[in-house]
Amino acid sequence: MGRTVYVNGEFVPEGEARISVFDRGFLFADGIYEVTSVLEGRLIDFPGHLRRMHRSLGELDMPAPLGDAELEALHRALVARNGLEEGLVYLQITRGAADRDFAWPAEPEPSLVMFTQARGLEDSLAGREGIRVIGVPDFRWGRRDIKTVQLLAPSMCKMMARRAGKDDAWMIEDGLVTEGTSNNAWIVTGDGALVTRDLSNAILHGITRAAVLAYAREAQMRVEERAFSLDEAKAAAEAFVTAASSFVTPVVEIDGTAIGSGTPGPVTRRLREIYLSESRRQAI
Ligand code: PDD
Repeated sequence: MGRTVYVNGEFVPEGEARISVFDRGFLFADGIYEVTSVLEGRLIDFPGHLRRMHRSLGELDMPAPLGDAELEALHRALVARNGLEEGLVYLQITRGAADRDFAWPAEPEPSLVMFTQARGLEDSLAGREGIRVIGVPDFRWGRRDIKTVQLLAPSMCKMMARRAGKDDAWMIEDGLVTEGTSNNAWIVTGDGALVTRDLSNAILHGITRAAVLAYAREAQMRVEERAFSLDEAKAAAEAFVTAASSFVTPVVEIDGTAIGSGTPGPVTRRLREIYLSESRRQAI
């Protein structure tokens, strides 16, 4: 792979990157992360990702290791050093190394790790043809609004989908869809309204979700922020997911039931186009 990654103040070859075995990210998943997409070498929705990073840090009473301008410069430097045209920048901040103790250290020295992943995002198979999902119980913790690195539950849910021969899982709590394993869930109703779950501790407050909501409202589309059941989703005209790593991606099947015509619907395709052109225009 041969990437250059960033670890606590240094750019190093990926094979030489080191983090302490006492790092609380490693021992307690005591850390948060952000994933920012890159198109044509530029950062998509970056101010939103910075805002959410601060919110996650604040909820965990964790200091930011660097200021916003420095973090932005690091993102750019990593993109440049790796010649990244299209893909992702991953940022992780943990509470750093301390002797193992459930109580947080009084004076933490946070760790900052960043790396890139080159990946075709715009012209992906999933974006063109859509994905197939299954419903699974949501057994994650109660603070899904914080973007922590404790991702074992969604990882297990993703594997349930893979073992069932599908692409992803929509997680269900109290009979209602919370979100996908690494994306926010949406449907388009028979009368053309866009529906996505309202913000609470039950879901991650997606940056792509917020951008798509704003663009949809600008385009005079009807939007409802409310929870929906898997049965409502199965009977919907269209379904899709949003995330920094996949933009707007059609969902063409839920639990074996074809959604609409079983191919990506017109509203979803339009929203993907709007999202791509608007976020490109605002990329930095
Ligand atoms: N995941 N919900 C969950 C549980 C997520 O993990 C993500 C993002 C989203 C979408 O958020 P955003 O639009 O800000 O990317 C919703 C990232 C991409 C990941 O873990 O790789």
